[in-house]
Amino acid sequence: MAQQVRGVIASGRGEPVRIETIIVPDPGPGEAVVQVQACGVCHTDLHYREGGINDDFPFLLGHEAAGVVESVGEGVTEVAPGDFVILNWRAVCGQCRACLRGRPWYCFNTHNATQKMTLLDGTELSPALGIGAFADKTLVAAGQCTKVSAEASPAAAGLLGCGVMAGLGAALNTGNVGRGDTVAVIGCGGVGSAAVLGARLAGAARIIAVDVDHRKLDAARPETYEQAFYARDLAGTVVLVGVPTPGMRLDLPLQEVFGRGGSLKSSWYGDCLPSRDFPMLIDLYLQGRLDLDAFVSETITLDGVEDAFTKMHHGDVLRSVVVL
Ligand SMILES: NC(=O)c1ccc[n+]([C@@H]2O[C@H](COP(=O)([O-])OP(=O)(O)OC[C@H]3O[C@@H](n4cnc5c(N)ncnc54)[C@H](O)[C@@H]3O)[C@@H](O)[C@H]2O)c1
Ligand SMILES: [Zn+2]
Ligand SMILES: [Zn+2]
Repeated sequence: MAQQVRGVIASGRGEPVRIETIIVPDPGPGEAVVQVQACGVCHTDLHYREGGINDDFPFLLGHEAAGVVESVGEGVTEVAPGDFVILNWRAVCGQCRACLRGRPWYCFNTHNATQKMTLLDGTELSPALGIGAFADKTLVAAGQCTKVSAEASPAAAGLLGCGVMAGLGAALNTGNVGRGDTVAVIGCGGVGSAAVLGARLAGAARIIAVDVDHRKLDAARPETYEQAFYARDLAGTVVLVGVPTPGMRLDLPLQEVFGRGGSLKSSWYGDCLPSRDFPMLIDLYLQGRLDLDAFVSETITLDGVEDAFTKMHHGDVLRSVVVL
């Protein structure tokens, strides 16, 4: 039977978020209902609220989460009720060109739940990144659930579901940092700090962390990219992780692009493959080699999301995490 639970809704551009009752359907074929235990507040949730992603209001926010599978639909074999899982926004299809070439992290056709969660009046909700986990329970595609060791703290584990994975993966997967490399990370909030950690895990010999006052944030990015372009070593790599706004442009002398060699890459979700990376990173965490707990600046309740946006905007926290 469909269930009624609480969820954090952004109903219009720039409007403060509100807790509303939402209807979560029973899982259909290929779907799972997850009882959310923790969900981090990511910059992208704020981007949704500001209308910076698209106009498909109302949004059910939250997408950096861990929880326990409550029920699964027909044909689901990868997870079962009771499994402790991290939710991901890269449930790969296994059949597209990227998947068939053995590069599923570039999948063209990732899955979300087919059915819609709704408000009480039947209005369909758009879950942030196909997840919507600022809620007691959420409906996702089963492939969005990655089973990991239940020994991990939900607040820490959930962070791998977005920002921390994006940073770790930018260093480990996209940047392919190796032993002895020198790495500079420009912008050291939640994502950047995870990139520092990833570079350390990979054996970088020198890591330079760069940051400025947050008020310069939006204006500075193309210039920052240009700095990184020139600051890197000859034949070095630049990895872009920060999400540009639609108007941003970059102007570089092509001769320098050619002459300096190396590579200019972008990293979405740390080029991660959740089924490969989440259990491995949780193992490192449980061995004490990856301090995910350090990213949990504070734990809050569902009604604290609006305040958490303000704190994030002022750079006061690495991550506020909703614990349910
Ligand atoms: N690529 C992906 O898959 C992915 C995933 C999650 C988040 N993101 C993006 O990553 C970015 C960072 O997210 P976050 O949650 O860490 O944000 P955050 O606000 O916690 O951190 C950003 C940091 O950058 C610093 N900064 C801003 N401008 C700078 C400049 N010109 N030079 C040096 N430092 C500067 C700020 O002071 C702040 O500490 C955002 O754009 C977010 O949307 C990307
Ligand atoms: Zn695919
Ligand atoms: Zn995110």
